Amino acid sequence: MYRITAKEELDVRDFFMEVEAPHVARAWKPGQFVVLLIHKKGERIPMSVYYADRETGRLGMFIRRHGKTTFDLWDNFDVGDSLYAVAGPLGMPIEVKHYGNVVFVSDAVCGQAENYATLRAMKEAGNYTISIQTFEDRAHSYPEKFLAKPVADEYYLTTEDGSRGIKGHYLDVLRELIEKDKVDIVFGGGKLGSLKKLADLTREYGIPTIVTVRQIMVDGTGMCGSCRILYDGEIKFACRDGPMFDAHKVDWDDVIRRDGRFVREQEIAKKHYLE
Ligand code: FES
Repeated sequence: MYRITAKEELDVRDFFMEVEAPHVARAWKPGQFVVLLIHKKGERIPMSVYYADRETGRLGMFIRRHGKTTFDLWDNFDVGDSLYAVAGPLGMPIEVKHYGNVVFVSDAVCGQAENYATLRAMKEAGNYTISIQTFEDRAHSYPEKFLAKPVADEYYLTTEDGSRGIKGHYLDVLRELIEKDKVDIVFGGGKLGSLKKLADLTREYGIPTIVTVRQIMVDGTGMCGSCRILYDGEIKFACRDGPMFDAHKVDWDDVIRRDGRFVREQEIAKKHYLE
């Protein structure tokens, strides 16, 4: 169970991993996530899904070498090895239906995976799909085969320094598309600061916007309270009620503040692991 069937570097920081998890792959729906436990006593790490193949029972994920566990996963687990557990699918699926022109925007690892997975589902539902993927620069961008380009009807890649694709951020391209009246709904994932700006932009034009609100998770099932967010004046849990929410109802300042709670502890754990 949970055997690793593929592993490949995406850029200097992120990697792709495919794992056998048939019960999860068959039940997963767009919008949902999974939790990995690489060792019996390890931490639980939430992951967005790049694809879930019902036939093979395999899950594809994009993972960032960010903390102790993800470095351990990259350094010490290869094709043929097994993870201790893959739990899920967790969270609420998004509504996949005909919206018209659907845009997905992303600028960080979790969003890049969802950009592909969500667009594919929306295209199958008969939507015209537009993908905008932003990377920091060429060294932090993915090989062609891992982009959302093959599933999108219209595709844009941007880098913030212009070293690959269009120079700029997805927000710049999105504004142009909105002004051409090409956007009925936006889905998004990635950096919280960018999602806050995205919410401000689409609110200005009255365009519905659904985004992944990434928060620090412990159990992933609504029990611990770690991932709580302020949403439309109420407490919600990203793991149980999300992780995708109406971007216009999220209290972004609170979300961004809570996301930085354990930066110091994460750095200490990573430093000890790398020493
Ligand atoms: Fe514990 Fe969401 S991770 S409540």
